[in-house]
Amino acid sequence: MPAPVRGRTRSGGTPPVTDKPIVWQHDATFVLAATGSAVGLGNIWRFPYVLAEHGGGAFLLLYLLMVAVMCVPLMLAEAAVGRAGRGSPMASIKAVAERAGTFPHWRWVGALGILTGFVILGFYSVVGGWSMAYSWYALTGAAQQTDVAAAQQQFASLTGGSLLAEGAWLLAFVAACGLIIGAGIVKGIERSIKVMMPALFVLLLFLVVNSLVVGDAAAASAYLFSFDFSKLGWDAVLAAMGQAFFSLSLGMGALMMYGAYMPETLSLRRAVLLVATLDTSVAVLSGLAIFPIVFAMGMDPGSGGPSLVFVTMTLVFGKLPLGWLVAVAFFFLLLLAAVSSAISLMEPVVAFITESTRLRQLRESAQGLRREGTLAVSLSVAVVALFCAHYGGFFDLLDQLSANYMLPTGGLLVAVFVGFYATKPVEESIPSLPEGAWRTAWLLLLRYLVPLGILAIFLGGLLG
Ligand code: PHE
Repeated sequence: MPAPVRGRTRSGGTPPVTDKPIVWQHDATFVLAATGSAVGLGNIWRFPYVLAEHGGGAFLLLYLLMVAVMCVPLMLAEAAVGRAGRGSPMASIKAVAERAGTFPHWRWVGALGILTGFVILGFYSVVGGWSMAYSWYALTGAAQQTDVAAAQQQFASLTGGSLLAEGAWLLAFVAACGLIIGAGIVKGIERSIKVMMPALFVLLLFLVVNSLVVGDAAAASAYLFSFDFSKLGWDAVLAAMGQAFFSLSLGMGALMMYGAYMPETLSLRRAVLLVATLDTSVAVLSGLAIFPIVFAMGMDPGSGGPSLVFVTMTLVFGKLPLGWLVAVAFFFLLLLAAVSSAISLMEPVVAFITESTRLRQLRESAQGLRREGTLAVSLSVAVVALFCAHYGGFFDLLDQLSANYMLPTGGLLVAVFVGFYATKPVEESIPSLPEGAWRTAWLLLLRYLVPLGILAIFLGGLLG
């Protein structure tokens, strides 16, 4: 059987005119968009407080280890499946499975990913809404607090007060993401990413430099880079794995999705390494943007939990020279990071609806129902998010469940699929993977270390 031309004649016969795969217009877009996906609330909101909960430096080391040996090989596998399959995670996995001559049922791994994305969006949109609210407070000068009780009260009345206020912000957040996704892959995602990512990096650099200059850099680096392994138990290992998966947008098909829009000619290996490096640097940099000023203002980073960036930081901004400017920069950074990640959670769901509603025979509906799909997804996300906003326990459940269990499970299944069942067609879409030691290392990690590691950590978490 002749090899099918990618993206054109998957099922044989004359391809419809519009059935060419959509690819990014610019070479840099995959890296920008995947970095936009990876760099998010996970880096700036979640990472600092999870790190603080597990005692600082030793957790950072564990996290870096997870990224290097577990996540990077998986990222390469995921993005390559997308580029080989050219569809939503479900369609891509199915296409690759067919090409490899293995069970098409592997596509349910893609479905799990799409579901996970939906679950994450549920609580993510709530925090996205908070970021939007605080960006507004920052502009009006209300994000600089001088009194602990007042700062707590401000956060409490946003999150626990009337559902109306919180609901309005989260709806605005979901609507913003829906508008981008609805506008399309090139006109929506690609165009907005090109503006958001440079802005994000400029804001972050400003914040880091400012924090190191006016803050207590010595205390922060002692905190971040000193290693007290006595605090680490299985829960920390599980949390580090969950945080690594969450932060790298791994295990739910976001990378598969963005890989599906990646031109054939680019080096996937280099792109993936760059994304992992950028994301990890941003996690550390946001630690450096936050902890020096937190310590300089005499505050405890570990006390606030998820409210670290919303309560503790407003108190910091209240005391800081140029507090208004720093608060505006900080909360807009958070907002940009949240939007550029949320769209990558939404795209696989919308792409799935678009391709399922695409009637190949009829020219006029060959595009599928992208806009309608986006609207339906946005509305359903808003319902789940309202639920999360109202029931704090539900919020925590979705957060823990998705990061610590659903994402690693998705990753485990992708590792087994690519490692054992579909190595050949997936490898073919990574021509930049050198033969020899690199390839062997990649396969060994994917086949053994990643799945066994994930299982061991699950078990350890259960037993320990
Ligand atoms: N990586 C994003 C963050 O750090 C969250 C995310 C998870 C996005 C999974 C897509 C998929 O905030």
